[in-house]
Amino acid sequence: MKFSVQQYLFLLLQGLHQANSHYGFPYTVVNGVVSKRWEYIRATTSFAPNYDYSGPQSMCGFNATTPLFPVKTVQVAAGSTIGFAASYMADNRLEEQDFSDFDPAFKMYHDGPATAYLSKAPGELNDYKGDGEWFKIAVVPASDGLHWDYRSDIKMNIMNFTIPAATPPGKYLFRAEHLNVVNGATYKATEMFINCAHIEVTGSGAGTPGPVTHFPGAFNAKDSGIWLPNGLAKPTQPMDELKNWQGAGPKVWKG
Ligand SMILES: *[C@@H]1O[C@H](CO)[C@@H](O)[C@H](O)[C@H]1NC(C)=O
Ligand SMILES: *[C@@H]1O[C@H](CO)[C@@H](O)[C@H](O)[C@H]1NC(C)=O
Repeated sequence: MKFSVQQYLFLLLQGLHQANSHYGFPYTVVNGVVSKRWEYIRATTSFAPNYDYSGPQSMCGFNATTPLFPVKTVQVAAGSTIGFAASYMADNRLEEQDFSDFDPAFKMYHDGPATAYLSKAPGELNDYKGDGEWFKIAVVPASDGLHWDYRSDIKMNIMNFTIPAATPPGKYLFRAEHLNVVNGATYKATEMFINCAHIEVTGSGAGTPGPVTHFPGAFNAKDSGIWLPNGLAKPTQPMDELKNWQGAGPKVWKG
């Protein structure tokens, strides 16, 4: 096959776009310290958009139901904040074999809500398949009803979530998610970007987290928190649906 210069340029740009239209969260930020890549986050084999709303990849991303290799556990005090720092997809490398440092020049370029969930491990986190109970601890909606708080034009690269002060101490799988609410009514177009950290919540929280759910099973593709109909991606006037967005799955447990 022969390509014209225009076709080459098109393919090149498309390639660049693809390399850029994928991301994940391989680093944690705790007490201002950015981790090494995959130090506390279960490696995923791809940063491509995830559409597996009701399947096994909906829990911790691609091939991360069990750790591809063991990761460490980071301590986070109940009531404090953990950040998930973003990175682009590796070029010419397998994602799970990329151990590069956080590059603050990279910015998230999708607009959409974020959520965080916790699931307590019955034993060691590296053995935990996430098949226990999950509860939601945070949602980041469009506070003004118009612009998603986590969006491209604010040039952000770290999503932050606060762990409720009443969270009982213990070892938890922490699921962080950013959605790209794709414009248009296209059913099953919402892109999920998900990673899970191994954390140990410290402190003396004595709450009873709930309501609980399971992964897979917390979502389905038609859930109104996942499939936002046409116009909600980039509305032109404030909408309560965006302001009060709670996401798919259970209500947030505030402790
Ligand atoms: C999941 O892992 C398998 C086996 O290594 C691999 O073939 C597949 O491409 C992976 N899936 C994704 C979406 O990365
Ligand atoms: C998250 O917290 C870090 C500090 O740890 C800060 O640099 C970053 O801007 C915060 N992200 C957002 C979206 O506010």
